[in-house]
Amino acid sequence: MRVPARIRPYYDLFLMISAEISPRLDLASIRAQFPSLAQTVNGHPAVFFDGPGGTQVPQCVIDAMFHYLRRDNANSGGNYPTSRRTDAMIAGARAALADFFHCDADEVVFGQNMTSLTFAFSHAIGRELKPGDEIVVTRLDHDANVSPWLTMAEDRGLRVRWAEIHDQDCTLDMDDLASKINGKTKLVAVGYASNAVGTINPVKKIVHLAHKVGALAFIDAVHYAPHGLIDVADLDCDFLVCSTYKFFGPHMGVLFGKRKHLKELRPYKVRPLTDAIPFRWEWGTLNHECISGITACVEYIAEIGRRTGDAVSRRSAIEAAYRLIHRHERALLEHAMAGLRQISGLKIYGITDPTRFDRRCGTLAIRIEGHAPAELATRLGECGFFTWDGNYYAINLTEHLGVEKSGGFLRIGLVHYNTMEEVDLFVKVLREIVGWSKSANTKD
Ligand SMILES: Cc1ncc(COP(=O)(O)O)c(C=O)c1O
Repeated sequence: MRVPARIRPYYDLFLMISAEISPRLDLASIRAQFPSLAQTVNGHPAVFFDGPGGTQVPQCVIDAMFHYLRRDNANSGGNYPTSRRTDAMIAGARAALADFFHCDADEVVFGQNMTSLTFAFSHAIGRELKPGDEIVVTRLDHDANVSPWLTMAEDRGLRVRWAEIHDQDCTLDMDDLASKINGKTKLVAVGYASNAVGTINPVKKIVHLAHKVGALAFIDAVHYAPHGLIDVADLDCDFLVCSTYKFFGPHMGVLFGKRKHLKELRPYKVRPLTDAIPFRWEWGTLNHECISGITACVEYIAEIGRRTGDAVSRRSAIEAAYRLIHRHERALLEHAMAGLRQISGLKIYGITDPTRFDRRCGTLAIRIEGHAPAELATRLGECGFFTWDGNYYAINLTEHLGVEKSGGFLRIGLVHYNTMEEVDLFVKVLREIVGWSKSANTKD
């Protein structure tokens, strides 16, 4: 927004006051809910910057899973108390995820993880396609939203079109993407946010482009889910898939599918399995102990929002929670970016301009001249910092940027339970590890 110079001081004052009075995350109370955060490594406090690989879980999730195994453990569909309680628990988890996604409970499918769900759905979707049909995948995506489509395309004789990126800031080239969508396109598979460089894609716009030609839009929201509010009703996507272990829950995958598609597509399934949705998409016995942690995980997020006092429903509490999470993560990102930029020879991939931070989350992919990412991750790990190195399966991106053969990136993943102090300490230790910095190298 352009503010006229004469009212600028009043506008700045207004922003300052509203920032002061608007609610903030109560970090102390949040961190106290995550027992694992209190660990130490070689006498150093453990700093979890590995959220993109999987977040930590709050005590309420641990309690729910413990309680289920101790009291309610049974198979589903039996006519006795523990089995009935199991069915009620699964229905409760589906309802919680329906609030999380903003859809109906019968549009929520449970699976082992995002990758298996995507393989299963890609093959069911492929049954409806014919040679010559086209699909679009992107260079930015995690391979779990690429390879399932490539293998299906090979089986069905489809043409695969790749949407490219702008190399300088690792954003999707939207003109290129639009040019790859045409009357033959049957599906566009795109990530909500990059698990390597943090870019947030304009998925609503992409869904619209797909729908204009009658194609399906399949969204991988695995990396976006801990950082931003998901609203499938607003996105109007056909499918959206994510993994609860990336947003403070247990290790499993969940998929939203529009009711129409869940009914009309034909799953590969065994005969006794019902044809009712969403169950016809859930093969064999589900992972009940993991599902038993899901309501608690969604409630953990909702509770953050309820503390603002504005929320009237669980959905509005989730919305309020993400406003707080976004604000805190944005501050962490700005702080981390400013600190890292002081280190000479360090390159940050992705968007680095703070005025465009709305288009990225706090996942930072870096390389430092003369230091292999694996060496840095190992040395940081010995000092208590949990980061990741390599390609994190975003292999199409690391190959494209020419860093795959030299170890990929070092990834620093910031989530809402991280603190400014952790970021400060990280920058300090990283400087010590690499042994030189801008302040020591005044030439820069
Ligand atoms: C963006 C993204 N998509 C997909 C996946 C795969 O998820 P899952 O491990 O649940 O199969 C990951 C895992 O890291 C991811 O970060």
